[in-house]
Amino acid sequence: MRTYLVTGGAGFIGSNYIHYMFRKYGDSIRIINVDCLTYAGNLENLKDVADRENYEFYKVNICDSEAIGRIFAENDIDRVVHFAAESHVDRSIKHPEVFVQTNVLGTLVMLNAAKAAWELPDGSFREDKKFLHVSTDEVYGSLEEDGTFFYETTPIDPHSPYSASKASSDMLVKAYIDTYHFPANITNCSNNYGPYQFPEKLIPLIINNALQGKKLPVYGDGKNVRDWLYVDDHAKAIDMVQEQGRLGERYNIGGHNEKQNIEIIHIILDTLQEMLPDGDPRKELVSENLITYVEDRKGHDRRYAIAPDKIKAEIGWYPETMFKDGIRLTIQWFFEHEDWMKHVTSGDYQKYYEEMYQNR
Ligand code: NAD
Ligand code: DAU
Repeated sequence: MRTYLVTGGAGFIGSNYIHYMFRKYGDSIRIINVDCLTYAGNLENLKDVADRENYEFYKVNICDSEAIGRIFAENDIDRVVHFAAESHVDRSIKHPEVFVQTNVLGTLVMLNAAKAAWELPDGSFREDKKFLHVSTDEVYGSLEEDGTFFYETTPIDPHSPYSASKASSDMLVKAYIDTYHFPANITNCSNNYGPYQFPEKLIPLIINNALQGKKLPVYGDGKNVRDWLYVDDHAKAIDMVQEQGRLGERYNIGGHNEKQNIEIIHIILDTLQEMLPDGDPRKELVSENLITYVEDRKGHDRRYAIAPDKIKAEIGWYPETMFKDGIRLTIQWFFEHEDWMKHVTSGDYQKYYEEMYQNR
C-alpha cells in the first residue's frame, strides 16, 4: 500500500485533494495529513474521512524538523504532496514574516526530511519515491492585457511577499533537484475555487457577503484578470503529475478561463439569483447595488494566465470543469454548508475583516 504524506491537508486545496484521492483510490492508499491548523486549517473539512483506517492526522508545524523527521522515521513515506503554506496575498502585505517562516523554511524542513529518508549511501534515491511541491502562477509576476501566457520557461518575477516566498520555495526545490537529483516535481497552478475555500479569497467572500446583503469589495478598477480552475481539476492534475510527471520537471496548471474580477462578481450575483428559490429572503438581498469599489491592493498584479500546454502534451491533463458548472457546484456546496461558513466566520474572522476592509 502506497503511503502519502500530505502537508496542509486541512486547508482548502489540501482537503479537496484528500477527498479526491480517497474517492479515486479507496482503501488502496494510506494518507498521513500533517497540518498545524492555522486560521486556514479546519478539521471540519475532513470530517467525512477522519474515521478511515487508512487516514491519519498529525497536528504538527512543518517548521518543526524533529516532529517531521519522526513522522518520516516511523512511516515508509512514498509520496509527499506539499501544500502547507500561508496562502493569502493581502495577509502577506500586512505580515510578511510568517510567509517566509512557513513557505520558505518549512519547505526546507520538508525537503531535508524527505531527502534523509529516501537517500541511499551512494547518493542516489530509493525507487518510486517522489516529492510534489504545490506552487502558484503568481511566481511569474504579472502579465499585460496582451494575450500572452505564463509558460514553465517564463522568468520568475514575484511581486508580493506571498509570491516571493513561494518563488523562494520553488527555488529550493529546484536546488535539491539540481544538486542532489532529488526526486521531485513542481506544479504552478492558477486561482482555484470550490468547496471549503476560506472566505478571505474573492469567490467565497463574494458569495458569503452577497447572501447577507453586505458590500462586495472590488479592489481598484475591478479589471484585474485571474485564470480560474475548479479545485477538483487541480487535485486530478496533482495526482497525474505524481504518477506520470518526469522527475525534476515543473508543470503549469491552469483553467483556460481568464476573467476580470468584476465579471466574476456579476456571474456570482446572476447565478445566486438563478439558484435561490422564489420566496427565499436572501433573494432580495443579492443585488448589484452591493458592489463597492475600494482602495486597490498594493502592488496588485494585473493579469495571470497559464498556458497548460506542457501538462496536456506530456501527461494528458486538461481542465474539465467549465466555469459556469464549477461556480454552480461551488454555490450549491455553500448553500448546503451554511454551518461551515458560520463556524469559519465567527471569532477571529471578524477582526480580520475589520483590519482589511474598514478603512479601505
Ligand atoms: P490554505 O491557506 O487554504 O491552506 C493552507 C493549509 O496549510 C492550512 O490547513 C494551514 O493550517 C496549513 N499550514 C499553514 N502553515 C503551516 C505550517 N507552518 N505547518 C503546517 N501546516 C501549515 O491554502 P490553499 O489555498 O489550500 O493552498 C494550498 C497550497 O496551494 C499553497 O501552497 C498555495 O500556495 C498553493 N496554491 C494555491 C492556489 C489557490 O488558488 N488557493 C493556487 C495555486 C497554488
Ligand atoms: O494565482 C494563484 C493564487 O490565487 C494563489 O497562489 C493564492 O494562494 C490565492 O490566494 C490566489 O491569489 P489572488 O490574490 O489572485 O486571490 P484572491 O482571491 O485574494 O484575489 C483574487 C482577485 O480578486 C485579485 O485580483 C484581488 C481581487 N479581490 C480580492 C478580494 C479578497 C477583490 O477585488 N476584492 C476582495 O475582497
